[in-house]
Amino acid sequence: MIKQDDQFKKVISHAKEYGYVFQSSEIYDGLSAVYDYAQNGVELKKNIRDYWWKAMVQMHDNIVGIDAAIFMHPTTWKASGHVDAFSDPLIDNKDSKKRYRADVLIEDYCAKIENKIDKEVIKAEKRFGEAFNKEEFLSTNGRVLAYQEKIDTILKRLGKSLENEDLADVKALIEELEIADPLSGSKNWTDVKQFNLMFDTKLGASAESAMDLYLRPETAQGIFVNFLNVQKTGRMKIPFGIAQTGKAFRNEIVARQFIFRMREFEQMEMQFFIKPGTQKEWFDYWKETRLKWHKSLGMGDDNYRFHDHEKLAHYADAATDIEFKFPFGFKELEGIHSRTDFDLKQHEDYSGKKLQYFDHEDNASYTPYVLETSIGLDRMFLAVFSNSLVEEELENNTTRTVLKLPAVLAPTKAAVFPLVKKDGLPEVAKQIVDDLKWSFNVFYDEKDAVGKRYRRQDAVGTPFCITVDHDTLNDNTVTIRHRDTMEQKRVKIAELKNIIDAEVSFKSWLSTI
Ligand code: GAP
Repeated sequence: MIKQDDQFKKVISHAKEYGYVFQSSEIYDGLSAVYDYAQNGVELKKNIRDYWWKAMVQMHDNIVGIDAAIFMHPTTWKASGHVDAFSDPLIDNKDSKKRYRADVLIEDYCAKIENKIDKEVIKAEKRFGEAFNKEEFLSTNGRVLAYQEKIDTILKRLGKSLENEDLADVKALIEELEIADPLSGSKNWTDVKQFNLMFDTKLGASAESAMDLYLRPETAQGIFVNFLNVQKTGRMKIPFGIAQTGKAFRNEIVARQFIFRMREFEQMEMQFFIKPGTQKEWFDYWKETRLKWHKSLGMGDDNYRFHDHEKLAHYADAATDIEFKFPFGFKELEGIHSRTDFDLKQHEDYSGKKLQYFDHEDNASYTPYVLETSIGLDRMFLAVFSNSLVEEELENNTTRTVLKLPAVLAPTKAAVFPLVKKDGLPEVAKQIVDDLKWSFNVFYDEKDAVGKRYRRQDAVGTPFCITVDHDTLNDNTVTIRHRDTMEQKRVKIAELKNIIDAEVSFKSWLSTI
């Protein structure tokens, strides 16, 4: 079995080698936790964004999109609570001088206990074979129950201390659990302090007239401040949603783990405006709907789980994360938050403008409640990319590296090869490229033996390879090879578009759920 760390290193190097993700400003030794998307990465990222946008906006009559500016009036962030409360608890190690998020140190400690549970499951699976019932084992095995209780107790205490701003207790917990600096092993810690995550900048040419601004730490506020504009100009009736994708910025204390936690990243958020009192029902609806969206990509149902929050953000009355099994364990991929009327009320107070909805049925005005779904595009990229990268043993005792991206998300849908670089085959292959490129991203390659060309496309994640050979000249047929099964079929050139479309279209993926 490949160790988690090794698998993750492979993911990072594969992303670079095959033109998906580069370190930002690499020639200057890079910038910590900032990344650039390369020629294939930008396509995968765009396809994930489209898959989200179509599912949320195109498929819902009552959800519309906007694209608000990154710069917002600074009072926005006073009103939203970010100036006062958007901070993480940090702790320094006095010996290594390294800085950590105190809550993450504790959560990582719990993740190690969780690994022990996983190991117990694997052992029991081997022992009981076919008769093994995982659910029953998890709910009855003494050792597992003790581990789980330990995790629950620790996380409950952490949640409570953070909620009460009791940072001394967070430090006490780190000391009681004897958590050491992961790099140096030292347990010599400073006190825990709060650190605001917003980046600030200035707007204006002269020092005297410049205005202090923040780079937005979430896209959501651009939706709240436009709530009434959209509602009125779109004649939207509650319940309705406003969706947005765009950059957000956070001065993360610890930004390791590649594109999992970045300082500049992209969010895909949707705020759903509802009648007060209906939030529980909509919370359940969006939990189910978002999980279905994830599952539609066929990345393994067991790789997802919900994690309900013990500690609620300052704006929420309920919150859950959809967690995904990344190469370094289950971590948050998407948040679903019941934000009450907190944001609209705060913006009403700070702006002095009414942000209410007039309900014609009830003949009354109210401040809507909000259900939010918020997913990091880069994090989704990492989930898709890491889950797709596999080393496969082949029958002839060789291996192949294949990036089994969901075909709907793959940057290039098909590669077209002439078998040889002569006899008119390149011309036919190029004609096929010219015809298909109206519908899909396609790639032409005539270099090296066909087997080698197949391997290159496997590694880059292209779902189909099409080979033009001498028979093509007589009967207008080509060989089409499927990336995952490696199955090859002879088909008519005229059928190619429909064959590819059936496997890569948005409908064929999203309608499976
Ligand atoms: N508007 C709510 C909000 O921003 P959040 O839980 O702080 O909630 C939502 O962020 C999502 O944004 C997360 O689930 C994660 O996918 C992504 N995200 C947050 N911080 C990130 C970071 N530093 N780097 C990459 N993605 C991040």
